[in-house]
Amino acid sequence: MIVEKLIFDDYLKIGVETIDQEHSFIFDKINSIIDLNSKKPLTRNEIFDALHDFQEYQKYHFLNEEKLMNEIHYPNYKNHKEIHDKLKNIINLELYTLQYGTDIFDIDEFLIFIKSWWDIHICNQDVRISRWKQKMDELRNYV
Ligand SMILES: [Fe+2]
Ligand SMILES: [Fe+2]
Repeated sequence: MIVEKLIFDDYLKIGVETIDQEHSFIFDKINSIIDLNSKKPLTRNEIFDALHDFQEYQKYHFLNEEKLMNEIHYPNYKNHKEIHDKLKNIINLELYTLQYGTDIFDIDEFLIFIKSWWDIHICNQDVRISRWKQKMDELRNYV
């Protein structure tokens, strides 16, 4: 199966520079896994290493985003963090399966899932942080 690469289009930019840079880096990481796998199907160990590396960066990004939400007193913090935690748990489970399980790991299925997760999460959730931040910045100018 050919998994299409992700494009970090303008509609995915939320307008907070550091967050946009990290999102773009996450897309690069997903694309490099797609690239590697399309050249030569990855072994179980190679998939584990790629996913582990991805998980580490993702955790770093979630932490930064959660710090920002705290700083600006984002009202939906708890719910947003729970969504991050859910994805971290899903990937931890995949890593566990890769290391200890014996059933076939469908990398294409995983790549399609992670691509849509990021697309939907940025558009439905992360963009709301940016809107709230803008409101707070405006307020600071008036008060
Ligand atoms: Fe994010
Ligand atoms: Fe997020």
